[in-house]
Amino acid sequence: MKEFVTLKNGLKMPRLGMGMWYIGEESSKARSEYEAIRMGIDSGVKLIDTAEMYGMGRSESFVGRAIKNYDRSSLFLVSKVLPSNAGRNHIRYSLEHSLKRLETDYLDMYLYHWIGDTPFPEVVESMERFVEEGIIRSWGVSNFDTEDMVELVEHSGGENCVVNQVLYHLGSRGIEYDLLPYMKEKNIYPMSYCPLAQGGSLAKGILQNETVLTIAKSHNLSTSQVLLAFVLANEDMIAIPRSSSARHTLENAAVRNITLTAEELELLNQAFPAPNHKVPLDVC
Ligand SMILES: NC(=O)c1ccc[n+]([C@@H]2O[C@H](COP(=O)([O-])OP(=O)(O)OC[C@H]3O[C@@H](n4cnc5c(N)ncnc54)[C@H](OP(=O)(O)O)[C@@H]3O)[C@@H](O)[C@H]2O)c1
Repeated sequence: MKEFVTLKNGLKMPRLGMGMWYIGEESSKARSEYEAIRMGIDSGVKLIDTAEMYGMGRSESFVGRAIKNYDRSSLFLVSKVLPSNAGRNHIRYSLEHSLKRLETDYLDMYLYHWIGDTPFPEVVESMERFVEEGIIRSWGVSNFDTEDMVELVEHSGGENCVVNQVLYHLGSRGIEYDLLPYMKEKNIYPMSYCPLAQGGSLAKGILQNETVLTIAKSHNLSTSQVLLAFVLANEDMIAIPRSSSARHTLENAAVRNITLTAEELELLNQAFPAPNHKVPLDVC
């Protein structure tokens, strides 16, 4: 698998990461979650995706503690600002608190979590200033549909957006119709959230599907790994599966060594076709 994409500002971004939603929220799971993060990093998964929203900062604090003994420059840290904090009077406060919780002095990427009331130029202006100051290395957006991306890119500085993090998995492929082609044209990379359909719960029966099972068996994989391999088969795609267990994190890391054949991808296409018309962006 191609391990990195090169963003338009020259930054190399790993294509496989670890999602941190719900991580660090329950003390009974802390030991297992620490181990999962550490084993993930030790196995070469250096991208970590969190947000000020997750556990109201607890996810960021947990990540900060878990990564303490690692070389910061080897990691790629992504966090997100809540729409309600994205105005020019709040965003710096949010960013500084994210940095403090993560125990770092810069983010590799800062995302506008979803669209709120702040006008796009105001968000862009703040993001661009943080890049100039060196406290973030790049910025992007999340949950933007095609018309939102078009509007963003039309504003001065908006073209410097490097990723759009959106829901994408084998059972939800609406973005392939028009969002992905538009982003490709603008050199904005897609970052797939819920790549495992949240353990299958977002697409009932997907992990028991005959085609998925057959492909899993032939590669000696789990069906979750097949879902992840499908997402990563698109060389532009970045994926951030979440796991609270070291075993699952290592299984996800192992998917970097899996290549689905053209025939297998075609079978998955037939079983879970991408829509041939516009559908609204899926969110969770
Ligand atoms: N920007 C946004 O609006 C947005 C929205 C949603 C999510 N996200 C980001 O995307 C990340 C991923 O999405 P998600 O957490 O919603 O869902 P997900 O990664 O699709 O699924 C997570 C679930 O899959 C299970 N799992 C993980 N690896 C597995 C494996 N190898 N085999 C079997 N089960 C496995 C996990 O259980 P175990 O813990 O037991 O392994 C967990 O229940 C989030 O953590 C977050 O960072 C962003």
